[in-house]
Amino acid sequence: MSKIKFAIVGCGRIAQRHAEHINNYGELMAVCDIDASKANDLAQQYAVQAYYSLDEMLLHEKQLHVVAVCTPNGLHAQHGIAILKAGFHALIEKPMAISVYDCGEMIKAAEKCNKRLFAIKQNRFNPPVAAVKQAIENNVLGKIYSVQLSCFWNRNKDYYENSWKGTKDLDGGTLFTQFSHFIDLLYWLIGDVKRVYALTGNFAHQNSIEFEDTGVVVLEFYTGALGTINYTVNSYQKNMEGSLTIFAEKGTVKIGGQYLNELEYQNIEGFVFENLPEGNGPNNYSNYVGSMSNHDKIYQNLIDVLQKGDAISTNSFEALKTVEIIDKIYQSAKQLSA
Ligand SMILES: NC(=O)c1ccc[n+]([C@@H]2O[C@H](COP(=O)([O-])OP(=O)(O)OC[C@H]3O[C@@H](n4cnc5c(N)ncnc54)[C@H](O)[C@@H]3O)[C@@H](O)[C@H]2O)c1
Repeated sequence: MSKIKFAIVGCGRIAQRHAEHINNYGELMAVCDIDASKANDLAQQYAVQAYYSLDEMLLHEKQLHVVAVCTPNGLHAQHGIAILKAGFHALIEKPMAISVYDCGEMIKAAEKCNKRLFAIKQNRFNPPVAAVKQAIENNVLGKIYSVQLSCFWNRNKDYYENSWKGTKDLDGGTLFTQFSHFIDLLYWLIGDVKRVYALTGNFAHQNSIEFEDTGVVVLEFYTGALGTINYTVNSYQKNMEGSLTIFAEKGTVKIGGQYLNELEYQNIEGFVFENLPEGNGPNNYSNYVGSMSNHDKIYQNLIDVLQKGDAISTNSFEALKTVEIIDKIYQSAKQLSA
């Protein structure tokens, strides 16, 4: 079978990870960035064509199958739609977009152009997360009563300096850039969210970001389960914890570690999680650490979808749901602080 041909738009930090996996699973043909030095560096590294405008790249690289969108959050919709309209599949970095409306427009464009729209929620592949999902599907835990999500990371002022990160228009909010993977897991493991009450505040980043650095949230799921989220980027000096605790009819389980990478607690009727694989390390950007680096699994799935007709691991409807839940949280915080 011939190799799937890829391009990347946005040649910053996460694009490196994409290029590496594209090289393993398919063929990288071209890269694009409005910052010529970034485009040139990545193009040189992989001996491919550099472009400085997405439209130019889409016009000239007709042999492509998929374009990976690694630009700032607020540009995902515009770039994704342009790629779909040019006749290529689109792989969109998280979050899918920063408004529900934009996600809807992207899904409409994919349907109209008959192309696939892949979203990235790589935490679903963390070994303890995948094991707990399987256990829930097999009804090992029984009815889920309540859940607690803790997102305690550190992002200092340097992280936001001279960056789109921290801006309302291109970043969107702390839940979009830092914790959208975690919100996705609430949706994936527990279900859709009916009601939300939230309070947010900016305690330590008043001069560096245009939105909250901290939030506390109460949720009610459609199943009747209750939940809380406590999130912050003010964990002193370094990331401390990314964890999800589930209290259910037949057991209690906590997925923890810094980025939902360890099974920290289990007490389940007639069942034990054992021999979980180690899993990948985190995305390490030298001065800060992100989520578990599972982009290999994203690319494996994309290839299986396009070549073998498999199902997408995170489809665009589910990616829209993450954005919808985040939107509900921000709407509530706005109303309650009015
Ligand atoms: N899945 C993950 O674990 C993960 C990790 C990090 C970042 N991300 C996501 O990846 C995206 C990029 O993040 P990053 O950390 O790599 O950011 P970055 O700032 O390092 O890179 C973004 C690049 O996009 C370029 N760009 C901006 N506007 C453009 C345009 N109109 N056309 C072409 N290029 C343009 C910038 O010049 C920059 O080089 C974000 O959406 C972020 O949320 C996901």
